[in-house]
Amino acid sequence: MEADLVIRRARLLTLAPLREEKPRAGAAAGDVGAIDDGWIAARDGVVAATGRGDGWQDLDRTSDAVEVDAEGRVVMPGFVDAHTHLCYAGQRWDEFVTRKSGADYLAVLERGGGIHATVRATREASDDDLLALLRRRLARAIALGTTTIEVKSGYGLEPAEELRQLRLIAAAAKESRIDVAVTYLALHALPAARVDDRRGFVRDAALAVRRVADEGLAEAVDAFVENGVFDIDEVRPLAKAASEAGLALTLHADQLNDVGATAFAARAHARSADHVANASADGLRALARAAIPAVLLPGSAFFVGYAPPNARRFLAADVPVAVATDHNPGTSPLEGMPTAIALGVVLCGLTPHEAIVAATINGAHALGRGGRTGALVKGRRADIAMLDSDDEREIAYRLGAPIVREVYASGRRIA
Ligand code: NIG
Ligand code: FE
Repeated sequence: MEADLVIRRARLLTLAPLREEKPRAGAAAGDVGAIDDGWIAARDGVVAATGRGDGWQDLDRTSDAVEVDAEGRVVMPGFVDAHTHLCYAGQRWDEFVTRKSGADYLAVLERGGGIHATVRATREASDDDLLALLRRRLARAIALGTTTIEVKSGYGLEPAEELRQLRLIAAAAKESRIDVAVTYLALHALPAARVDDRRGFVRDAALAVRRVADEGLAEAVDAFVENGVFDIDEVRPLAKAASEAGLALTLHADQLNDVGATAFAARAHARSADHVANASADGLRALARAAIPAVLLPGSAFFVGYAPPNARRFLAADVPVAVATDHNPGTSPLEGMPTAIALGVVLCGLTPHEAIVAATINGAHALGRGGRTGALVKGRRADIAMLDSDDEREIAYRLGAPIVREVYASGRRIA
């Protein structure tokens, strides 16, 4: 084997599994697989070997191999951001201010603001403008260490506009240097024009799933299951359509109220159940039994001001936990996984190591990519972040600091 990338003298976090690869829960929930004085070698975008000490000196290297001395810094898998709404135009500063002075998130939505405000701005944005916004947001996520990212539609509502947005996300994904997992957020809010035709709207969304699958525009389908938004009976046909079309299912589940969506996600074999701040004990048991990751999104709890998901409940119930940004203009305008990790620790009660597992390998599992990325293991994509620190706990501690120094996707330096 000739390596074309060698990073040596690192505090290497491999996130390697103890036995077979599966979402990490129980004793594995905080195991980052640290190797002090470690090294990693890659070839053709894939991890070729890892080790400790001077073993890297015996490696054959290509004539143009890149060699990096990490000088003791942390080298770890690039982050996997398993839940974002990057495709939007406009901002919601006015709503932010009214909510911070007491207005309720669901009441604002009910009055035609909230998600609907972003839908109006996004519909008005041209293809070029939306694509430029997507590119810029992806570039900023990369600079902050993300090497795999999920991007949802959801600010079109009507299928025709959702399809336009999905095509733009797919175009941005295609040219991106990182892996982008696209999701059709089919049921996000009921358009004002359809208030007298809920059933028709829900039916149209389920019908659009086939179109999305045929065009190869998304790999998963999502819905916002919440009091006054969409209920489980409305999501059931969507879940069925997704399964028939070969698309995965993921849900905004029990974010503000316990509506039984977490247990439903498990019953429907969802890829992940997201938010879950108000999930019941039944919901947690169902996720644990099915080994489905719960994606905690502390940014939205922080900005909206509701009680964040308590990670200790999930870990005690043996649920695999992931953490993501939920970047969106309404509930979670934060950028970058280091901040999500810090909030996962400070608000949700993860340890720094559990938060790192949640932000890498368990995020990969939440996107159906547990065998491909999220760990520095032979044969996986060489998606790597180098920190500007020799102690990974600093990600959770130095909130807002520029902690990510170098980023590699498939073995190539991208930031
Ligand atoms: O994940 N709650 C539903 N969807 C988004 C927020 C959408 C918005 O307010 O624009 C979320 O929190
Ligand atoms: Fe979300």
